Amino acid sequence: MSCKKSYITTPIYYVNDVAHIGHAYTTIIADTLARYARLIGEDTYFLTGTDEHGQKIEESAKIRGREPQEYADEISGKFRDLWDEFDISYDKFIRTTDVDHKKGVQKAFSVMHKNGDVYKDTYQGHYCISCETFFPELQLVDGEFCPDCGKSTSVVEEESYFFKLSAYEDRLLKWYEENPNCILPKSKRNEVIRFVEGGLNDLSITRTSFDWGVKLPSEFNEPKHVMYVWLDALMNYITALGYGTDDKNMDYWPARVHLIGKDILRFHAIYWPAFLMSLDLPLPKHIGAHGWWTRNGEKMSKSKGNVVNPKEVADAYGLENFRYFMLREVPFGGDGDFSQRALMDRINSDLGNDLGNLLNRLIGMSGKYFEGRVESELVSKYYQAELDEVQTYMDKLEPFIFELQLHRFLEELWRPLTVANRAIDKYQPWTMIKEGKTEETMALNGLIATILAKVSLMLHAVMPKTTTIIIEALGFEVTTENFEKYIRNNEILSPFTITKRDPLFPRIEEELLVDARLEAIKKEKEEAEAKKAKLKEAKKNGTTTEGVALIGIDQFFQTSLKIGTVVQAEEVVKSKKLLLLQVDIGEEYNRQVVAGIKEWYSAEDILNTQVCVVANLKPAKLMGMKSEGMLLAAKDADGLCLIRPEKPKTNGTPIS
Ligand code: MSP
Repeated sequence: MSCKKSYITTPIYYVNDVAHIGHAYTTIIADTLARYARLIGEDTYFLTGTDEHGQKIEESAKIRGREPQEYADEISGKFRDLWDEFDISYDKFIRTTDVDHKKGVQKAFSVMHKNGDVYKDTYQGHYCISCETFFPELQLVDGEFCPDCGKSTSVVEEESYFFKLSAYEDRLLKWYEENPNCILPKSKRNEVIRFVEGGLNDLSITRTSFDWGVKLPSEFNEPKHVMYVWLDALMNYITALGYGTDDKNMDYWPARVHLIGKDILRFHAIYWPAFLMSLDLPLPKHIGAHGWWTRNGEKMSKSKGNVVNPKEVADAYGLENFRYFMLREVPFGGDGDFSQRALMDRINSDLGNDLGNLLNRLIGMSGKYFEGRVESELVSKYYQAELDEVQTYMDKLEPFIFELQLHRFLEELWRPLTVANRAIDKYQPWTMIKEGKTEETMALNGLIATILAKVSLMLHAVMPKTTTIIIEALGFEVTTENFEKYIRNNEILSPFTITKRDPLFPRIEEELLVDARLEAIKKEKEEAEAKKAKLKEAKKNGTTTEGVALIGIDQFFQTSLKIGTVVQAEEVVKSKKLLLLQVDIGEEYNRQVVAGIKEWYSAEDILNTQVCVVANLKPAKLMGMKSEGMLLAAKDADGLCLIRPEKPKTNGTPIS
């Protein structure tokens, strides 16, 4: 399945949000393919970029009080910075606000129009801004909500240009049928076929309700219309190669693979090939739709606060370990769960035990017995069976890459490592050397080095820096020539002296990322448990949870509480705290109450208001004044307030 030119693309990312693990996943798969294609000597062009037009972006900018262009510049820059930090080997980073891109889209519009596929009409439909898509009423959930994202749709009626998508039904179905691998994984192709067989409506490809988009070509004289954002966005795959401007790199077309997520398959597998047919351009070789990442089993969303930030993960666990994990953990096309536990297990087990340890064992054995020297000439004399076994695994690997089965690729690539680790355990070099079998021991080291060399070359596209370290320790370099030599032609390694180095994958014992959400859940749980324990303790002791003794109702009624009205109030001059009050509680004489409330109430505030009085307290003296009751009040960090009846009540009404 090898072709000379390899054009590999990611989706272009919307600039209404910063990058998350899903974006990183698509980009890392594409980067791996591009690196592999380059390594095997293909002329490779790798494209990524940002999708910057449309109502969604216009609104995101508006909410933040920004101009769309300035806002797009900022977020697009963040994507680019992240990919640079992640060493993504893109050849071009396209932005849909690039002048050349806009020219290319206009050209495509004119060509499709000239070819009779574009006509003007009016459109009435339910539009989801979030998905930038119209939906027929029948597809709406509860007659209103978007079937894809669940957000509310709005009814839009506007004049629009249409693309005759319906005219392409048969040709699309023929393409799917004649190219069984055009959509990967194959199960997704069946979904698309069923959708197209259900019938296609023509597609509205211009909008008049907003203006943040590519204008129609001037010959149309339609200043109110801008291109539908998906038409604009999909064209990036050819405008990036110079379509509509200098055509400079159009010989990379058709794409070897468009990498996308499953949510945007319809656009890529139906609209895009139809547009290309209308433009008389060849169709992409593969469209690869991966699944979605969840976190600890849940959908990621900002509101849940469980969105995985790829940079944080890479910083904590190592970028290349993260790459390995993502590609190894989930079958392409399936959904995958991000959990730190799974990531740690992969690092400790696959990378640390199987790969890193093998290098350590080679360093150890060759250092101890041969002063670091490793020679492979005699490997086939002693270990032909192992070499043959490794070769059968190696021969099967490449197709997995271009069929996008990267998890299988990595799984199979680990088999030679098992052969190597098993050989050490089986032949026991420490015994062989004691028995004077020097040649056999050296050959065993040669076998280990050969296996490490082959695995590292194949793994290079996934873990470029790590494998370069291993390969350099084995005395050669990562080049296409060496790939030919050691992988395709099965040549033996030249003798070399290995140098000691630190372990490549230090063991990770605990989760390195603070998961704010899980922390919050843990805290909540701990608090609930503490509360439960307190309740249990209180029950046992016959107290409230604060340790106050429980009383019976009869004891409560021993306190006489009454409604009263403050009929006289004056400040106690010498005191900062006290007011001297006369309170009518329905008795023949008023009660004198000295209340410590002056900090919160003036005499004037409290005069002629109703209060709750403890009426059967033994009289006491405060600053020489008799007090014959107490007012009910509540005091917290914000201060004190009196407890009062909600509505006026007759003085003396008992409180129960
Ligand atoms: N702008 C369009 C693509 C236009 S391509 C001509 C777009 N952009 S996006 O930023 O919303 O999404 C980009 C990619 O990220 C999609 O492939 C999408 O599937 C992927 N992901 C978004 N969330 C994801 C996960 N939680 N998990 C995996 N990938 C997900 O769509």
